[in-house]
Amino acid sequence: MSTIKDNYFKLKQLENEYLTPSVIKYLLIDANNFSNFSQLILHFDNNCLNEEKLFDNAKKVINGYPYQYVLGHVDFLDINIDICPEVLIPRQESEQLCLIAKEYIDDYFKDEQIDILDLCSGSGCLSLYLKSKFYNSNVLGVDIKKRCVDLANQNIKKLSLTNIKYIQKDIESFISNNTKKYDILICNPPYIKDESSVDKQVLKYEPHDALFASPNYYFYELILSNYEKLFNDKFLIFFEIDEDLQQDLTNLINIYLKDNCTFIFKKDLYNKTRFLIIYKV
Ligand SMILES: C[S@@+](CC[C@H](N)C(=O)[O-])C[C@H]1O[C@@H](n2cnc3c(N)ncnc32)[C@H](O)[C@@H]1O
Repeated sequence: MSTIKDNYFKLKQLENEYLTPSVIKYLLIDANNFSNFSQLILHFDNNCLNEEKLFDNAKKVINGYPYQYVLGHVDFLDINIDICPEVLIPRQESEQLCLIAKEYIDDYFKDEQIDILDLCSGSGCLSLYLKSKFYNSNVLGVDIKKRCVDLANQNIKKLSLTNIKYIQKDIESFISNNTKKYDILICNPPYIKDESSVDKQVLKYEPHDALFASPNYYFYELILSNYEKLFNDKFLIFFEIDEDLQQDLTNLINIYLKDNCTFIFKKDLYNKTRFLIIYKV
């Protein structure tokens, strides 16, 4: 049997674009049933548990299989959520969207009781994060896919959250049957036009129904054209978007929203226009 340290250096020799040093640490934490990085460091000279699983997992990652699916969970800002291959892996851009949303909600709703809607909720990452920060909120998430809804509900339990639930519905039928009004929408819908702009590993391993929309502004138009039905007089909307959508979305706002709404596009860490915030406060 080898020590954790020995295996760390064995895996370091196999490093590639997918098996990076930080992924190696995640795999070692997982194989040894640790819960965090500090435990790994503290026990670095101990014998390594589950070596066969460790190297099997490393092999999958080296071949391009996402390490998040191998582990079955992922860090999203300061929460850790479960994930599975039928559900989109949460992205760094979505973490940024949550941080932007948190700042606006802090500014405009302070400690008020708020109703948050997460349309196309997937793993629930966006609304789980907001719920973990705004204890006074009630949260509803909606996704068309049963596996997403089951996983998001599992994440509620994992994080011991209350007043939050996920339901399985097509967004169109959700909107047409909806009678409640919300204060906040957070939404990262499918928005990619075609396969040409998508990384080959993403295409190979992640669910296509989470990626593509036709036309690519379909979900935004559905929401914006129904905004009076969905939102209270004072509201905040946070969309993740594709940078190519800026003009189309500006047109849709001009068509559907009344004058006293404000909107702003923001860039992500790669300097791409990635977020649209619309508000009336
Ligand atoms: C880009 S993923 C976003 C998931 C999650 N919100 C996130 O940020 O990681 C889009 C989600 O929309 C869901 N979806 C696709 N079509 C839908 C529809 N017609 N109605 C509701 N949800 C839909 C997919 O199942 C997928 O989970």
